[in-house]
Amino acid sequence: MSQPGGTYDIVILGAGSGGYAAALRAAELNLSVALIDKAELGGTCLHRGCIPTKALLHAAELADQTRESEQFGIKADLVGIDMAGVNAYKDGVVGRLYKGLQGLLKQPNITLVQGAGKLVAKDTVEVDGKKYTGRNVILATGSYSRSLPGLEIDGKRVLASEHALRLDRVPSSAIVLGGGVIGVEFASVWKSFGADVTILEALPRLVAAEDEEISKAVERAFRKRKINFKVGKPFEKVEHTENGVKAYLAGGETVEAEILLVAVGRGPTTKDLGYEQQGITLDRGFVITNERLHTGVGNIYAVGDIVPGLQLAHRGFQQGIFVAEEIAGKNPAVIDENGIPRVTYSDPEVASVGLTEARAREQYGADRISTYNYNLGGNGKSQILKTQGFVKLVRVNDGPVVGVHMVGARMGELVGEAQLIYNWEAFPEEVAQLVHAHPTQNEALGEAFLALAGKPLHAHS
Ligand code: NAI
Repeated sequence: MSQPGGTYDIVILGAGSGGYAAALRAAELNLSVALIDKAELGGTCLHRGCIPTKALLHAAELADQTRESEQFGIKADLVGIDMAGVNAYKDGVVGRLYKGLQGLLKQPNITLVQGAGKLVAKDTVEVDGKKYTGRNVILATGSYSRSLPGLEIDGKRVLASEHALRLDRVPSSAIVLGGGVIGVEFASVWKSFGADVTILEALPRLVAAEDEEISKAVERAFRKRKINFKVGKPFEKVEHTENGVKAYLAGGETVEAEILLVAVGRGPTTKDLGYEQQGITLDRGFVITNERLHTGVGNIYAVGDIVPGLQLAHRGFQQGIFVAEEIAGKNPAVIDENGIPRVTYSDPEVASVGLTEARAREQYGADRISTYNYNLGGNGKSQILKTQGFVKLVRVNDGPVVGVHMVGARMGELVGEAQLIYNWEAFPEEVAQLVHAHPTQNEALGEAFLALAGKPLHAHS
């Protein structure tokens, strides 16, 4: 795969979601690209993140459905979880997508370079002594699993998510440090697989970036599922025991388990890559850019997890496309960070776009904001699935909907409509005119909008 160096319209360092999306869009626009990565094309999302975790979550859902099938009149026994089989299924999904991506990237305008790159000039990345010069450079080096001072991740008893994804067994018990997205997703998987799980979260609630009512609903559902969690107490240290680990919380409380997963956030991969030497501004390791993703140095742009903000693959894709179009002179519209949909694929699922109620109150003033919660109890399809939860809308009075927040089974699939509503600044009265198929969970959104427009149907106003 290695090339002799050369000059390109764009040199991209990192072939994860942000980098490869930029390469594909640039190639469509007839720009020549060198796409450099030291590991597999596809990056964290495809190989160690979104895709394999969602495969595990799907297997977890099947385990729960088998266990709970009797309530639907289906007799089945869950005999056990064959982790080798689960991993083979998960790896198969990743493998097929990886193959597809390799095919997509094999095209005349894209030169793939395998190796570790370093920015050695404002327009040059060096790989194994060869220089790749770009009229433009895109930094897309992604992120790594962070730990805490003094907390050593050994990959055996103290794991990061990439280790947790490769476990060859279901742990009998697990401590999950961090009740953010990765934390609740793994807690959900392991509980479904039969492990005893305890989440430790320093902030006062789980999924603390979400609307407060959503956090409460997740906590209620987790209590029902017997997923233990301790919130509002910072973690202090972990000790190895004979058979596992013992975690200490501030105040002296301890929790023991077979393993501990560290899920306290992801840090930007920007160290020792030559960024600062070329004059790029870093803030706690993140690359600072303007809203058009330009670093302010030469023709260097940055995309994805190294740019402060939501660390989500689809944000990376969109930023990659944006920068390719920017370089091609297409003057793309600036991305509204609040308009990026967010999904946590635990059971129950959480999906949201736009502002939480608290942020909307801050931004617009409390008296200008109204909210409406539509309970999934009134939604036929959700009753068929036997799921609980709600759709919450946040609107500016006499203005558009500025936040949609959902919790319950399969709510992630509804976020597509929610993000159109947010990004098109739709008024509830406009959405209320649109017909939602019956019976679907999408109707819950439709019903919420009918109610907010003052004409509730299957809802108590
Ligand atoms: P996160 O920022 O979502 O959550 C980390 C949690 O750890 C926070 O709630 C934080 O308060 C807590 N924490 C930090 N220090 C602590 C301490 N000393 N003691 C106890 N708790 C502590 O980060 P997470 O879950 O590691 O995920 C990393 C990134 O990956 C996120 O930005 C997320 O958006 C992305 N991701 C997205 C997924 C999705 O979209 N479904 C799935 C998984 C990850």
